[in-house]
Amino acid sequence: ERDRIAVIPGDGIGQEVVPAAVEVLEAVGDFEFVEADAGDAVKAETGDALPQETYDLAAEADATLFGAAGETAADVILPLREAVDSFVNVRPAKAYPGVDALRPETDLVFLRENTEGVYSGHEDRLSEDLSTLTRVVTTSASERLAEFACDYVTDRADAGETPGFHVAHKANVMRETDGRFRDAVVGVADERGVDTDEVLMDAVATHLCLEPETFDVVVCPNLAGDVLSDLAAGLVGGLGLLPSANVGPDRALFEPVHGTAPDIAGDGVANPAATLFSAAMLLQYLGHDDAGERVREATEGVLADGPRTPDLGGDASTEDVTAAVVDRL
Ligand code: NAI
Ligand code: MG
Repeated sequence: ERDRIAVIPGDGIGQEVVPAAVEVLEAVGDFEFVEADAGDAVKAETGDALPQETYDLAAEADATLFGAAGETAADVILPLREAVDSFVNVRPAKAYPGVDALRPETDLVFLRENTEGVYSGHEDRLSEDLSTLTRVVTTSASERLAEFACDYVTDRADAGETPGFHVAHKANVMRETDGRFRDAVVGVADERGVDTDEVLMDAVATHLCLEPETFDVVVCPNLAGDVLSDLAAGLVGGLGLLPSANVGPDRALFEPVHGTAPDIAGDGVANPAATLFSAAMLLQYLGHDDAGERVREATEGVLADGPRTPDLGGDASTEDVTAAVVDRL
């Protein structure tokens, strides 16, 4: 049976880079694509940034490919992540040959807790002077993330190599919440025979800048993963190249890290690379490992040899780059 892929381009350059990814997916496999609306444009039309049928589609499809939404981004992406019950955000940051990077040695993956921490939404205004935020950390969510991380590094370890990951936290200060996070993650890893290196999250920021090659897989609480992965994006040449996956127990949603790029939307020059790498992750998630690898290699090949879009110093269009990737496939 064909995999059913929900396609949600959204606003701005989402309308340009998502069709590019669909073209590339069609070049390597036979899928059922179902397209749906989300974002500012559909809100202007219907009053609703995330129509129920779009939510239902993401909740039922085998995988979802999302572009970006404009001002309504939070109203779209948070419920979409919930639709796939996503508990982990996978964010690779890699420097590619042919692309100017501050730190060309960077090649790492953040596994970010995607449901709780300081993004749990429990904020209160207690007085004229005082507001508070409740940071939520559960053993169950931390262990679920750790199980995923153990599978992730075990799948990727070379024969004879002990798999391992870094755990970023600040349990020396947030003893109860990050203490719980750390104990849960390290506990699962110990049981699974996976090595862990604990690092304080602020120190990770420094080490990322100075010696990014010392990191491979970094498991983080929600906020730390958000900030540190954006930092890593800066090391490898900006947001236009970074893919991400929101993974749940039965389905997953894939999206470029970038937004709608209103400054270039409609010009046909958006870099499709981040969305093509997201499509490669989608293929691997669905078990099409070879096809995923081919898409990743073809996209890397075009980054190295051109044609390139203006953000990378070239003068090619989104379509030129997409055609070059399809050509390599
Ligand atoms: P942005 O990522 O849209 O743009 C930042 C800069 O990077 C711009 O100069 C843009 O031209 C450039 N850029 C981004 N992606 C590119 C690509 N593929 N090719 C070439 N250049 C690219 O971030 P910004 O400007 O902060 O936000 C714009 C809008 O996007 C806002 O309305 C924001 O809410 C939304 N947004 C949505 C996200 C989502 O749906 N997940 C994520 C981030 C922002
Ligand atoms: Mg962010």
